[in-house]
Amino acid sequence: PFILSIAGGGSTYTPGIVKSLMVRLADFPLAEIRLYDIDEARQSTIAPVVEKVIRDHSQSIKFTVTRDAQTAFRGAHFIFSQMRVGQYKMRELDEKIPLKHGVVGQETCGPGGLAYGLRTILPMVELIDLVERFADKAAWIVNYANPAAIVAEGVRRLRPNARVLNICDMPVAAMRNMGAILGVDRHKLEVDYFGLNHFGWFTRVRVDGEDQLPALRRHIAKFGLLTEDAAQTDPQHADPSWVKTWRNIKPIMDNFPEYLPNPYLQYYLMSEQIVAHQDPDHTRANEVMEGREKKLFAAAQEYQSTGILPDAFHVGVHGAFIVDVACSLAFDLRQRHLVIVENRGAIANLPYDAMVEVPAYITSQGAEPVRMGAVPLFHQTLLMQQLASEQLLVEAAIEGSYEKALQAFTLNRTVPTMVHAKTLLDEMIEANRDYWPAL
Ligand code: G6P
Ligand code: MN
Repeated sequence: PFILSIAGGGSTYTPGIVKSLMVRLADFPLAEIRLYDIDEARQSTIAPVVEKVIRDHSQSIKFTVTRDAQTAFRGAHFIFSQMRVGQYKMRELDEKIPLKHGVVGQETCGPGGLAYGLRTILPMVELIDLVERFADKAAWIVNYANPAAIVAEGVRRLRPNARVLNICDMPVAAMRNMGAILGVDRHKLEVDYFGLNHFGWFTRVRVDGEDQLPALRRHIAKFGLLTEDAAQTDPQHADPSWVKTWRNIKPIMDNFPEYLPNPYLQYYLMSEQIVAHQDPDHTRANEVMEGREKKLFAAAQEYQSTGILPDAFHVGVHGAFIVDVACSLAFDLRQRHLVIVENRGAIANLPYDAMVEVPAYITSQGAEPVRMGAVPLFHQTLLMQQLASEQLLVEAAIEGSYEKALQAFTLNRTVPTMVHAKTLLDEMIEANRDYWPAL
């Protein structure tokens, strides 16, 4: 049985992920679960809920809550990384500063994502170093800390040999919805996909070897990538902002006759319409703080005083996907999953060392990307521009370069002009004083 540490234990996602682990104990046996967080107050609020989730399934799994790295990682076999540097207070600024200037306000797309990237690259490297110091030598870090594309590139540049697998649940969340539309379990889908994280396209969606993308497109043209009951079975994605996200895929899809865009492409390809519908005073961060966070904290309090835990957290595709990936790493299952991996020729006309998002076979040695071939010039060009923005941002963090940060902001498609880029960068330098490397 494995020792698993969750870095960012105080996240509102932790109870749901641990629940996903509990229902899969037969596949992924656990001796111990450790929560690790630098925010002690937040983690100790969430921990009793997590402990209850564990005890409902197992009396024998050891449960440890700590803010000490050695206690957290000593001998650990798997580390799930879900740190959120600056927490929701900084997510709110990532979203609101751009919106104030008429630019998309989003946690990973646009200037908000770049700002979040500059906060996260170096702490992620610190985490890797702590893990390498204390954990089992064969330990795997499964990283889904955002902004995943930038974090993955930062790790590749600074710790190229680290055993880190970078993942994002957006493709698998899309696949859950596709499965619901087609009436099959998402595990029955085999997809082809190319791009970068939060910036890519599905090119095939096979069920029993037959491409169902045309059928999906017909559904999406009417309803978006959403079914009535999908919204009900997934409370997170039933929030108004998420319903909008799944609906907005329709107008961008209409412009791609063959492929199915990742919903996040809406921020880059219909930026003006997105901004027009965003509320600069109330963003997704507010929705999460007033919704998911408040509900879970209230439930934790109620549990403390009454011993009864109300139904207050979501168990969804996010946790299930993480467990799938961990199983494939642990037991060399060679399952095919969409992950973020060094290109190595998978997309023939993107750089060999780009961190791309493609299907890959997950073995005990990591991800083996599947060849997706060359992509059309239009897509290649969009991808190259986004890649350059992300790579320049990582270089800005490493070198402390203002100039490269400005180039990164300027190349982001959500940013209309270099003047906007400079205004936003300067304002974000102020806002991120406690977090960014000096530029
Ligand atoms: C999806 C994305 C993540 C993102 C999350 C935000 O799962 O893949 O990258 O962090 O959505 O969800 P939230 O409910 O916090 O807005
Ligand atoms: Mn993601």
